[in-house]
Amino acid sequence: MRHQLSRYPSDSVLARGFGCPTPESIDPDLSLAGGLPASEALPAEVLKEAFESTMQNVDRAFWLQYSDSRGVSRLRRILAQRLEREVGSLVVTNGALHGLSLTLQALVNPDDTGFVESPCYPYSARAIEISGAEMIPIPIADSETDLNYIERLLASGVRPKFFYCVPIIQNPSGRTQEISYRRALSSLARKYGFVVIADMAYAELGGTKMSQDTGFSPDVTVELWTFSKTLGPGLRTGVIAGPEAIVERVAAIRSSQDQHTGVLTQHVVATVLEDKAGYESIVCNSRAVHRSRLDVALEALASVHHQDVSISPPEGGLFVWLRVNADKCDVGELQARARSLGTDFVVGTSFDPLARGAYGDCLRIGVANGSQHGLQQGLRRLRQALADFDLAEAP
Ligand SMILES: Cc1ncc(COP(=O)(O)O)c(C=O)c1O
Repeated sequence: MRHQLSRYPSDSVLARGFGCPTPESIDPDLSLAGGLPASEALPAEVLKEAFESTMQNVDRAFWLQYSDSRGVSRLRRILAQRLEREVGSLVVTNGALHGLSLTLQALVNPDDTGFVESPCYPYSARAIEISGAEMIPIPIADSETDLNYIERLLASGVRPKFFYCVPIIQNPSGRTQEISYRRALSSLARKYGFVVIADMAYAELGGTKMSQDTGFSPDVTVELWTFSKTLGPGLRTGVIAGPEAIVERVAAIRSSQDQHTGVLTQHVVATVLEDKAGYESIVCNSRAVHRSRLDVALEALASVHHQDVSISPPEGGLFVWLRVNADKCDVGELQARARSLGTDFVVGTSFDPLARGAYGDCLRIGVANGSQHGLQQGLRRLRQALADFDLAEAP
């Protein structure tokens, strides 16, 4: 029997993600395509102890049974303190991407439009596509240019329902928007009636604490926080902080979906967060690990021919975004060469939210996917590939 499936997977845009997967012949340790946080930065021992103590100290009924869609109150109380928000403005999620999908379900109706930073993390673009909202890309430049662009669109009568952005260490560009930009964006959101969906996935790696003023106004912003980059993506735990009306809608929608994030994991994250200094040192260590990996990459890339390759050094995080002279090199061919040398990266077109081939002259390299040795080997091979197109000195 031939099943009539939904429209999603057959749509070429939705099917895309990160493009053609890395061939199995490439040692994943040497690949620069992935976006995992560095394994050595993740606090495995702390988590092991937290799991053990949760199972010993928390009543079984509280970690084995169904629970509240908004998250267990113990974790929400700690998060409310950290974020300096009311408990009622929070929902614990399975990470930032889940938070985005839920927020879109709470907001988007057919025919709605949304502003989306461009380039954009492909899975977020896909989530927005699935929500049915029409995406209007906001090209990323600097805070002032971006703001002018947005103001012009709004002044011309465009009325988005939301603006999805990654204000701190944007993926893939690495750009961090100034606080003044975020304040101005909040004012525009209030004036024109849209919601800023601020994906804070890399905020802590960028040195922004949960308790810090992010510059966004809570009445017009849904912030998506996650523990994926600090404690580990496998935990699948994050939190939405937003206006209560939106958060209530999210919780209601969620009760007919996955119901709630795993209760044991929520208690474990609460246990880790209760040790405030301990959590701060985890974040601090993670920042340092990723910073040193970025430095290794930027040093290896110092050999590029700068007239043909532009690199905007990120403030932190996991990625470096490069633009190459398209007259000298086709990035698809560069990828084929890199793959033949045993490494890989993501071709820029994957980050075009409209999937129309923009950023074909760009590439993103991830610095934390494998071991430190693997990173060095991968970078050496990438450098060789760049040199083969006369874009860098050979290693
Ligand atoms: C911008 C951005 N948002 C969200 C995510 C996914 O985060 P989570 O694991 O919390 O769903 C990523 C992961 O790479 C990301 O880069």
